[in-house]
Amino acid sequence: MKIAVFTGAGISRESGIATFRNSSGLWANYRIEDVCTPEALVRNREGVIDFYNMRRREVLSKEPNAAHRALVELERHFEVEVITQNIDDLHERAGSTRVTHLHGEIRKLRSSLSELATVPIEGWEQKYDTRHPDGSLLRPFVVFFGESVPMLERAIEVTRTADLMIVVGTSLQVYPAASLVYYLRPGTPVYLIDPHAPALSLDNLQIIREPASTGVPKVVDELIDKYQL
Ligand code: APR
Repeated sequence: MKIAVFTGAGISRESGIATFRNSSGLWANYRIEDVCTPEALVRNREGVIDFYNMRRREVLSKEPNAAHRALVELERHFEVEVITQNIDDLHERAGSTRVTHLHGEIRKLRSSLSELATVPIEGWEQKYDTRHPDGSLLRPFVVFFGESVPMLERAIEVTRTADLMIVVGTSLQVYPAASLVYYLRPGTPVYLIDPHAPALSLDNLQIIREPASTGVPKVVDELIDKYQL
């Protein structure tokens, strides 16, 4: 049985990483147009690099939580593909082995010429003038608003072939990521785990209004009991 897990900032909230769209969220403290658009990178390159250096330093100081770990347990019983909007590496550090990042990865930098030509970054600090082997200035490997989402096709393929989906910690307000759930085959069971679950009109939906750290382990245990061969 193939399970697609679609995660957003809420799954990392209890690891101490801020979400975006609540009163203390990132977008309450920074303007998207100043730090998360291609124009910002041209107009305010050092400010953008500083912003992602600050976020990278934060991610390095945090640990996966019970929700990330429960998804690793799930992988011991089913074929699991994680599709995340998060740029942190907490899924990987918990031990998930198949993770597709729709919006990039904070632990990598990329060429300014080619969107998938990445290099790993050790530590938290990108220097302003470091270059990619192709000669271009390096930039955070993050999909900015208005940029294409190169991993979208793969995420759609995973979703189309999933037998069940678990959605955790996303407000489903950012497209095209939020459109993923509509690529599920009709009738595919969906579990939505979020204390303030967004509206979602699907015909086989179970909503768990709990934080990820309790809701995900609960769903994982239920699935193992229910479907384990
Ligand atoms: N457990 C589970 N869900 C939680 C928790 C928690 N402890 N705390 C908050 N949430 C939920 C919120 O209720 C909300 O629905 O997580 C969701 C976070 O929503 P956003 O802050 O909008 O984050 P996300 O949906 O991941 O944003 C998508 O927007 O800015 C871009 O690229 C950025 O990937 C990001 C995208």
